[in-house]
This record gives sequence, structure tokens and C-alpha cells, in this order.
Amino acid sequence: MDIDATRILIVDDSAVVRKSLTKLLEESGAEVTAAEDGEKGLEIALSQSFDLIITDVEMPKLGGYALCLKLKNNPATRTTPVIILSTQDSDEAIERGFQAGATAYISKSDAMSQLKKTIEKVLDKSSFKQERTVLVVDDSKTIRFLVEKGLSEAGFHVLTATNGKEGLAMVNIRVPDLILSDINMPEMNGIDFCKQIKTNPEWTKVPFVVMSSHSERSLVRGMIDQGATTYIVKPFNLDQLVVTIENLLSDHFLQLLEDKERLDSERKMMLASIISIVTALEARHEYAQGHSEAVARIVAGMGKALKMAPEEIDLLKIAAKIHNLGYVAIPDKILLKPGKLSDEEYAVMKQHPIEGAHILTSNPALKDIIPALRSHHERYDGAGYPDGLKKEEIHLWARMIAVADTYKALTSVRPYRSAQSKEKALELIADLRGNRLCPKCVDVFMDLINKNPNR
Ligand SMILES: [Fe+2]
Repeated sequence: MDIDATRILIVDDSAVVRKSLTKLLEESGAEVTAAEDGEKGLEIALSQSFDLIITDVEMPKLGGYALCLKLKNNPATRTTPVIILSTQDSDEAIERGFQAGATAYISKSDAMSQLKKTIEKVLDKSSFKQERTVLVVDDSKTIRFLVEKGLSEAGFHVLTATNGKEGLAMVNIRVPDLILSDINMPEMNGIDFCKQIKTNPEWTKVPFVVMSSHSERSLVRGMIDQGATTYIVKPFNLDQLVVTIENLLSDHFLQLLEDKERLDSERKMMLASIISIVTALEARHEYAQGHSEAVARIVAGMGKALKMAPEEIDLLKIAAKIHNLGYVAIPDKILLKPGKLSDEEYAVMKQHPIEGAHILTSNPALKDIIPALRSHHERYDGAGYPDGLKKEEIHLWARMIAVADTYKALTSVRPYRSAQSKEKALELIADLRGNRLCPKCVDVFMDLINKNPNR
């Protein structure tokens, strides 16, 4: 996970530290908010949401350990990772930090060199340590009560349902990390419930544990054949149940992690080569250098503001980084021409979205981003190219890229004109809202730029 578009709160009473950390993290694309003491930090942490909080130890009003404890005891901030930044690095100080619930501890002297690496690690860990949810499906009130109590005490988040039908409705709303189900239930029994879960590709990986009685042995075998993970015989001991669930979840998570890592590394290799092509293309004309990277940073911030899932933001960033991949098919005499293009040359240049999309069609891992490449020159009013799409017919990612692309193009030097000032560029973007550019995307963009003046 990288730091880009991560919302970070820095709490430190030293203005110098706040300033240098803010600069360091903003350069990596993070959105940084700073507070000058623990009390102010707590107030901000409770009123906005952050991916990470970094705090000093000795501060007026409320110190770092106390702040950390307060954050960990508040349901709104309990899961937000906290990094303690301190001038002391004695074992005792470090221990105190962890006791207060901190995820990591860095000494101030190492901060400049270690901070970014530590943040990446902490963010990776927290995205995999999200609260684990177990769905308990049983028609017996007593069993639901006992199992819920036992599992909650062990730190699981527990949802309950009284039969398979109700369970299915709950899975539809939120996919649990594990399902624990009885067999004999009214409306929909455990066998049909298990079948529904295991035949849906989105749910099939969720471990399904059957709670059975001795007399139901043959039914259990059928359910295991259908994909149930394992079974536990009633009456069971709650400690034994917790251990079984923990083991299953850790295996399950490891498997998911492995699958994800394998896919990621395959995709990364492929992407690295595509991105290097785009970088090489951009490197050939001075004014385009770093353009796509900058566009990617902006759309990532916009995606976050739109509450897109992290996986979607990752894909959106890739799309932005390679949106001009099609340049590879445009002859140099047009692509690198220093002056304005003739009508014929412009017509060739306008082929680049089609060419870029075409290159990606042979690549199944990247098929989701094809519309973003193909449509990044469409206009909201329908006057763009290559397909003349309008409004929501244009893929959202393409509409977002169009806004960031326009802004970055305006604020950079082009062979035929000098760079516009940021203010002038924002004025021009506002004029394009609703005709050339998607109004919703422009609003999100303006909000982002206003909040992060140095973008
Ligand atoms: Fe383009």
C-alpha cells in the first residue's frame, strides 16, 4: 500500500516538526492535517476520519500516551492506527506506547528516514486486520445467545440470524468472514443455506462451519461435499469453538493474502512495463514529463473523496498513469511537433484513446480500465472524441481523468504557450464545468484543490 491520498493527522507541539513532517508526507501525496497539542488532536480526530494518526509524546494539555488511550477507547477511532513519535527510545517508553494501543513507535531522530517505511507497513497491517465478522445462524435463542457472547468476548464481531433465509439476506448486505450455521431450521435449513453460499462465486470462499448433533452425521457429510469447511458437534465447548474459528480465519486470510499477492505481483510486472513505456514517451517531450503521474495523484484524491473502495482507487490510478498509452502509435513527427498541429495531424493525434484501449484488449487483468483510456477525451456535453459519448455514458474514471488532465495541462508549459497560473487554471476549469467537464467531478476536484493548496 502506498501513502498516496492517505489521510494523516499529525499531533505535535513543535511547529518545526509539524512543518517538516507535513512537507515530507505531502510530497508522497498524503493529505495531512496538523494539530498543536493532544487536546486539539483528539478534537480533530473525532470530527474527521483519518487513515493514520502520528503523535508526539510530550505535549501541553494532553500528552501522546493519553491521547492514544483516548483514541483506542473511542469506537469512532478505535481501529485507526497510531504511530508514536518520541525523543525517547528507551524500552520503557516504547512499552508504554504499545500499552496505550500504539501500532508503531519511532524515535524522532529516525523520523525523516524511517517514517515513510513505517507508515506503509502500518497501513498494510491495518487493512488486513480489520474486524472479523462471524455470522451465527441458528433457530435456538439459547445457542445464538451463548455463541454470540463467547465470540464477542474473544474479539469477534458477531451477527446473528434465526434461519438460512435470514442469514442469506444478511450475507447480501455484508459478507461475513465466517459463517457458523445450524442444520435444522425453519424457512431455510442449513443444507440449502450452505448450497446458496457455496454456489455464489462472491461468497464461496467464506468458511462455512456446520453446528450439528450426533444424529445428523450423514447430513454433515453431504454439506461438506457441497463445500462446507468443517463441522462442530453440539454440545460444544466455547473455547474449542473460538480456537476452531481463529484457525480457520487465519488459514483463510493466509490463502486470501497469497492469492492477492500472486495476482498483485503478476499485475505489477505487467504494469511496470506498460508504465515504463508511457514514462519513456513522456520523457521525450519536456512539457509532458511526469504529467500522467501528477494526474494519477489528483484522481486518487478525488476517488478517496468520493469514498471509492481502495481497490477501485488502485485501478483508477493505473488508468490515469497510462491514459495516454496510445501515444505509442502516433508518429513522432506529429507527437513531438513543436508547434500547433494541422487538421490532418490533429485527426491522427485524436486516435490515441482508441489505440491505447486497443493495446489493453489483449490483457485480461487490465480490461476494467479500458473505458477510462478510450473515453478520457470525451466531453460531458457530447462534443468529445472518439465516440461522442455524453454525461454519464462516459465512464466515471474517464470523467475524473479528464478534469485532472485538463488542470495539469493548463498549469504546465506547452510548446505553444506558457503555463497558466493556478488561479487562472481553476477559473478556466470552473468555466468548463457542465459543458466540457463533468460537474460532479469538477466539484470534487475543486474541493480537493482547496483543501490541499499545494497540489
Ligand atoms: Fe490524451
